[in-house]
Amino acid sequence: KPKFSNILIKINEEAADFYHKVLVSTNAGRPGYNYAKQRGLNDEIIAHFRIGYAPKQNNLLLTYLRDQKFKDEDLAESGLFVQSQSGELFDRFRDRLMFPLTDEGDYVVGFSGRRLSPYKTEAKYINSPETKIFTKSKTLFHFAEAKKAVRSEKHLILYEGYMDVIAAYKAGIKSGIASMGTSLTDQQIYMLRRITKNIIINYDGDDPGIHAEERAARMFNNIGGFNLGIVVLPEKLDPDEYVKKYGWEKYQEEVKGALTPTDFFLKRLAQKYNLANDREKLAYLDEAVKEIAQLSNPVEQDLYLDKISQQQGVSKDSLKVNFTKYRRQQN
Ligand code: GTP
Ligand code: MN
Ligand code: MN
Ligand code: MN
Ligand code: MN
Repeated sequence: KPKFSNILIKINEEAADFYHKVLVSTNAGRPGYNYAKQRGLNDEIIAHFRIGYAPKQNNLLLTYLRDQKFKDEDLAESGLFVQSQSGELFDRFRDRLMFPLTDEGDYVVGFSGRRLSPYKTEAKYINSPETKIFTKSKTLFHFAEAKKAVRSEKHLILYEGYMDVIAAYKAGIKSGIASMGTSLTDQQIYMLRRITKNIIINYDGDDPGIHAEERAARMFNNIGGFNLGIVVLPEKLDPDEYVKKYGWEKYQEEVKGALTPTDFFLKRLAQKYNLANDREKLAYLDEAVKEIAQLSNPVEQDLYLDKISQQQGVSKDSLKVNFTKYRRQQN
């Protein structure tokens, strides 16, 4: 890896080393290490993801970096510290498990820190603020590493959370990345398009996760040129919880069974209607045909018209009448 010239990256790289060293080899790092173990992270995973621990004690990072002769004016811009009214610096992250966030060259540009305690008195995750080197909307967790796995795995898998990427990694899937929460951006989608058109979205199986998958799938479709798969996990589980409960072999089957976006949308749609009631069923069929009419591939159009015709016991010819109407409206 070539040496970084940017001082803010240098500071963040040093901080990653510091947090990591604290976690793996100090008494001050015990709480973090125990928490990591309790979450199922082994030493190899901790090393691969450079996971660290920001100690409870005040200003250990500040002291460490000052000892390395970094200047306060640079430290203040690194995102690692909060500044008081009078300009005094304090460690931003304390008593948190630290996930380094890296840029496309795998240089550390920021962090996300998870609270250890289960009590919801503080935010579960705290991120570095936006800085000259860290733009959240253009960052994807594990992106630099996942790019390398695309050649063998043929796709990237998009997750909500760091722990999901890590669970997948343990399951042998190295192409996992995370959008850091559910608010995927267009910039992130463009980053992905440069690497592969095969994207699998696997957000959490809870309501917010499924809604976010719907939103993400629309965004990918609007930008276009992707071959999307969508995984919906049962029982509101997230991928990390799923692997713990059912094991990684079952998890890999879930990934293989990813739905096409149209299948996903049609299933979602069907859940919104009571199909035993004719009035609702007609409304569903209308919406479903509208959805299918958005497809540009005639083979796909035919496939899904066929599918709902069979599922709902109505003739394909009758569906085609509305289908043609909606197609015309689009042009
Ligand atoms: P664990 O509980 O550690 O397994 O995390 P999770 O990834 O399952 O969290 P969750 O599904 O609640 O949220 C998904 C992702 O959203 C997280 O990985 C974070 O990137 C982000 N996120 C969650 N909570 C917060 C928060 O309080 N603040 C911020 N900034 N981001 C959050
Ligand atoms: Mn979630
Ligand atoms: Mn989750
Ligand atoms: Mn989780
Ligand atoms: Mn569904």
